[in-house]
Amino acid sequence: MKLKRTHMAGVLRPSHIGEQVTLNGWVQKRRDLGGLIFVDLRDKTGIAQVVFDHTVSRDAFAAGETLGGEFVIGIKGTVKERESKNPDLPTGDIEIFVEEVEILNSSKTPPIYIKDDDPVSENLRLKYRYLDLRKSKMQDNLKLRHKVTKLVREYMDGKDFIEVETPVLTKPTPEGARDYLVPSRVNEGKFFALPQSPQLFKQLLMVAGTDRYFQIVKCFRDEDLRADRQPEFTQIDCEMSFVDEEDIMEMNEGLMSYILKHTKGIELATPIPRMTYKEAMERFGNDKPDTRFGLELISLKDELINSEFKVFSGAIERGGMVKGINVEGKAEEFSRKDITNLEKFTKDYGAKGLAWIKVTENGVNSPIAKFLSEEEIQGILDKMKAKTGDLLLFVADEENVVHGALSNLRNNLGKMLKLYNDEQYNLLWVTEFPVFERDEESNRLVAKHHPFTSPVFEDLEVLEKDPEKARARAYDLVLNGYEIAGGSIRIHTSDIQEKMFKALGFTKEEAYRKFGFLLEAFQYGTPPHGGIAYGLDRLVMILANEENIRQVIAFPKTQNASCLLTDAPTVIDQEQLDELHLKVEKKISRRAD
Ligand code: AMO
Ligand code: AMP
Repeated sequence: MKLKRTHMAGVLRPSHIGEQVTLNGWVQKRRDLGGLIFVDLRDKTGIAQVVFDHTVSRDAFAAGETLGGEFVIGIKGTVKERESKNPDLPTGDIEIFVEEVEILNSSKTPPIYIKDDDPVSENLRLKYRYLDLRKSKMQDNLKLRHKVTKLVREYMDGKDFIEVETPVLTKPTPEGARDYLVPSRVNEGKFFALPQSPQLFKQLLMVAGTDRYFQIVKCFRDEDLRADRQPEFTQIDCEMSFVDEEDIMEMNEGLMSYILKHTKGIELATPIPRMTYKEAMERFGNDKPDTRFGLELISLKDELINSEFKVFSGAIERGGMVKGINVEGKAEEFSRKDITNLEKFTKDYGAKGLAWIKVTENGVNSPIAKFLSEEEIQGILDKMKAKTGDLLLFVADEENVVHGALSNLRNNLGKMLKLYNDEQYNLLWVTEFPVFERDEESNRLVAKHHPFTSPVFEDLEVLEKDPEKARARAYDLVLNGYEIAGGSIRIHTSDIQEKMFKALGFTKEEAYRKFGFLLEAFQYGTPPHGGIAYGLDRLVMILANEENIRQVIAFPKTQNASCLLTDAPTVIDQEQLDELHLKVEKKISRRAD
């Protein structure tokens, strides 16, 4: 390589006019205009226009004619003021007249355009991820991610936390998902599990007296994937000794202030507001409310319990509910067809229908008005503070369905009606989660957070008598409707830990087989402790204004947990299976890999 860069392309400005510079990069675009060839030269800092002019150099011009998209080149030339300036480009006031060129590599025609937001299928982008990552937005996302991890390390170091690595080959960790297993060659028939989180090790570090631990760490969960879930993802994980909820919240408010200040220039108002789980469910229908806009869920139980309209009163009688949201001032904007589309949306979440009322100057307009008494209608309008021009939407069903349908509808409407701006960052602590929830498949009680979470002291009694009523010392941090972090104060005595396992239906033997090492450790002077873990991918996704965590992960997996770039997971050789003492029962059609 002869022509080594003196400057990065994206940094050139009018102050460089007259200087001779050498640039290295990729050919983004080439335009031929007779005696002139214009090339957009791209590197990680941006794009600069370089001009091949045959009156400047015949050789360079001749080479310029052979350049194709994504060729890798070096050019040496002089920076000049541009005749037709491009105000959309930071380097748009200048161009470089090429005196010398070196073609460092050619390129096949790339299967995707290197252009932000090009509407190509995501599968193709993932297959050619190394090309996709050449896009400036993707590079910016990687830079932002790097910056966030750097800020975390700075902040935590400043608060006397130390980063400790915990094992990746370990025992199953109880975060509620399925494990990724790794067969042991040396120990026939035995398996390691990849950690769903470093939960148990970070608690053992507290037993060990580490006092303040953190780690930016890969976690692995075999679960249904969504836009904000990947099978391998990264946590910012921390744990502290001799603390209660207040200490942990304060520390994390400091951390979030530091991150928001240095990534977005935002001064976070602290303390961050708090809301109990119960209140979040009542007002928003989920435990991670987006508090940037209203559209709260309003219960109409009292108003409709005795209604003749059985869709409503029947749901209440069966132990369910009727809730509504007031889409203020939007009666005119939504046609019947629009409302039918909203209804279809709610049906995806299990609702049987979406009833509606438009409040007009001539009274209410609604397909259900004929089923309701005047008094009931007035009751609804009063409760929902409805005014002329408002659109009221209702779902009646069991609690899960009403909350699932209306909370998703609320988020959808918030976005559709642009009820917030994209540069708003609303944080919220959600507290007092229940200790347990009922697993629908097995109908068993499972830990809502994880089995090491301490119940609220006053609820220790309830733990055995009425476990579903017990509240946990658990908290989630919610940002713009996403759960970005979750944690708790832990149980630190073996007797309460054993009670907890009992309530979860573990026998003592089972509990010791799975977590004996922890229960034993608790007998050797364990300090009170607690902690939290952030989903780094989610946090960066929100800060990058993206809607999918794949956008902030260099090499993510697809929706069905595979990697299109490397074609993992793959079939493995018989020899390797034998070595690992594994036999694949179900015949897999062997592809040519
Ligand atoms: P939890 O299971 O709530 O807690 O996880 C912490 C945070 O990790 C993120 N997260 C995910 N991100 C991407 N893909 C996934 N599949 C995924 N699963 C979780 C979420 C979540 O808030 N050990 C406890 C923490 C503690 O108690 O200290 C834990 O792992 O943003
Ligand atoms: P129907 O009597 O089924 O024609 O329903 C009358 C209206 O009530 C329609 O607008 C339906 O969308 C709505 N509806 C039906 N079931 C429900 C429900 N469970 N919750 C809310 N609205 C419903």
